[in-house]
Order: sequence, then C-alpha cells, then structure tokens
Amino acid sequence: MRIISYGRQYVDDDDIRAVVDVLRSDFLTQGPKVKEFEDALAEYVGAKFVVVFSNGTAALHAAYNAVGLSPKDEFITSPITFVATSNAGLYLGAVPVFVDVEADTGNIDVSKVEEKITGRTKLIVPVHYAGHPVDMERLYDVVQRHGIRIIEDACHALGARYKDTRVGFPLYSDMVVFSFHPVKHITTGEGGAVATNSECLYKRLLLFRQHGITKHRFVNLSDGPWYYEMQELGFNYRLTDMQSALGISQLRKLGMFVEKRRQIVSWYEKLLGNNPYLDIPKEREYAFSSWHLYSVRLKEDYIGRKRELFERLAEDGIRLQVHYIPVYMHPYYQKLGYKVGICPIAEDFYRKEMSLPIYYLLTEDDVCYVVSRIHEILGEQV
Ligand SMILES: Cc1ncc(COP(=O)(O)O)c(C=O)c1O
Repeated sequence: MRIISYGRQYVDDDDIRAVVDVLRSDFLTQGPKVKEFEDALAEYVGAKFVVVFSNGTAALHAAYNAVGLSPKDEFITSPITFVATSNAGLYLGAVPVFVDVEADTGNIDVSKVEEKITGRTKLIVPVHYAGHPVDMERLYDVVQRHGIRIIEDACHALGARYKDTRVGFPLYSDMVVFSFHPVKHITTGEGGAVATNSECLYKRLLLFRQHGITKHRFVNLSDGPWYYEMQELGFNYRLTDMQSALGISQLRKLGMFVEKRRQIVSWYEKLLGNNPYLDIPKEREYAFSSWHLYSVRLKEDYIGRKRELFERLAEDGIRLQVHYIPVYMHPYYQKLGYKVGICPIAEDFYRKEMSLPIYYLLTEDDVCYVVSRIHEILGEQV
C-alpha cells in the first residue's frame, strides 16, 4: 500500500554523494564541513553568526542558556508547539508561562502577552507555527518596554519571510532557532542551528555546544600547545561533518522545496475552497509562509468525527498528524501544576486541528486523493 504521511524528507543523489565524500575524508566530526554549513546558513538568512547543533532542542537549550535563563526566571511561550520549546527552559530550571494563541494561525496572540509579563519574565519565545511567522514587529513593541529578550523558535519556518525579512535574520530578536529533523524543510537526519548577530551570544553558544571547553582565551596560564580549559558546564551538542555536508547540499534545494510546498497549498486551496468540513489556513498580509505544515481545522459539526477520520484514512495509507496537544496538557506539565483551561483557544485549536500531507514528493494526484477521501468519509451520514 502507498503510504502518504503528513511529512517526509527528500534526499537525492547529490545529497548522498556529499555524505559519502565526507565518509572518505579525514574528518567525520569537528572537521571543515561544520563551519561551511554554518557559513552557508548565515549567508542564507543574512545573520552574522550561525552555530549548528545536534538537534533543534539542543539549539533551543543553548540559546536559552546564552541569555542567562535561570531558575529565578519565567519565560513566555505558546502552548501550540512541540514540547521542546518549553522543555528547553525547564532544563535550566526556569518557569514556562503559556499565552493563548490566535484561532486562525495557531501563533501566540501578541495582544495577550503583556498581561502575562511579571517582574520575573526574562524571555519570550514566539514559535512560527507551521511556517507562518508571528507578527514580530508588534511583539517587539510590546516586550521591548519591559527589557525582555526574544528568541524565535523558527523550527517550522526556514524559508519563510516576515514582511521583507527572511526568518532567521534576528531583526526583532536576539537569536533564531532552527531544526533539521526529516519532516522539516531541509534535513540533516537530526540537527539544529541558532542564528544571531551578537558576537557575545555566538561565543556562548559555541562554548555550550562543546562541554564549556575552549582552546582560546584562558583563565589560567596555558601549559602548552595541548592545553584547553573547561570554563562552564556545557554539553556535547555537536553536529557531525556527515550531517553538515548533507545540510549544505539540502540548503541548495531550499528554494525548490519551499516553492513546491506553496504549490501543494495552492492545490489544496483549489480543492477545499468553500468546503463544508474544514477551515483552511490563510497567510496574514505580513507573512510569506514556508508551509512546514498544512494545518486545517475541522468545523464544529465534524470535530466529533476526528478519531474516525484518522483511523479510516490510515486504512487507506493516509497518515495525518495533530500539531499540537497544548504543551501544558501533558501529564508531566499537569504534575507541575498547570491547569487545563488556561489557554482555551489553544485547547479548541487542538480539538479541531489536523495536519494534511505536505512534502516535496507529494503529487497533485496524491492531494486529490487525500481530499476526496476526506470528503467521502465526512460526507457519510452518521
Ligand atoms: C516548534 C519546534 N520546536 C522545537 C523542535 C525541536 O527540534 P528537534 O526535533 O530538532 O530537536 C521542534 C521539532 O519538531 C519543533 O517543531
């Protein structure tokens, strides 16, 4: 049976050759490909510095650490995200504070941010959900009066633009974080990155990625050419040269990947215009989405049929996903004391949301098949 999942990678012969070349070279890790990938990403997003990490979660952890997030701090984020956005702050002992979302984009509702700011708020982490940018200028206007740092979780949004700026250029933030998991726009298997214009943050990110070890600027006198120092507690969050080579090769195809995703969206829009079952996503005027997800919402009358729809589509090889269970509804967060009901729009979004297939190899026939099966199933009287 042909499987159509909600997302998947596209890896071609050039990508494979790039990885094999590294396997035949002198360095499998800590070699030249890592910096080459970082420079290529920095050039693409227009940032001064990029540091790559073993995954997007590690990149978030390093970014939060770089701004000094600590157990005395709160940080604001959206509940409609992957748990990593919030977990990375828990790793540092900080307290996540969830702000409700916009009912259409699923992005944090900027108009509700200020009421959640306290004397302890250190950081806000907007998530560009599904590849649709948050209204960053408005967010910046709200938080800059309070001296709060901004780190963008752009794990969904490589290739997107906010107004005239590529997501990744930290115009309204200190740092921008990406993930290269296989369902994302480009992949390195596992992988992540942080873009910043600050040399100080850049150095902190590098230190954190490598156990807090440095080979430059020592606290003590150097004992000789072998000497290095561990100056902070860091992690092994390195990306390998094989992965970096794959990333460089994938990045060359990013324009093509985003264009194809936008074409798939136009097919869905043609087939789903005025349909009785689903509300479909639309770009706000400030947004050029890179459509990591095609996130639709069941209309009220059909929410009760979501489970049946998922099960029956799976029998046809169509594997949808839901993005996301609001973070604070997970048992771990419930144990921390977060109450169901704190973000009612996010909870409603979760009840309605379904991510339809969107990935490079998806054809117009596939999209027609998915939409016609949804229409057939939901069109049956129950
Ligand atoms: C919004 C968001 N943030 C963070 C992450 C974590 O990235 P990774 O899976 O590369 O650790 C993901 C990954 O799915 C994500 O979707």
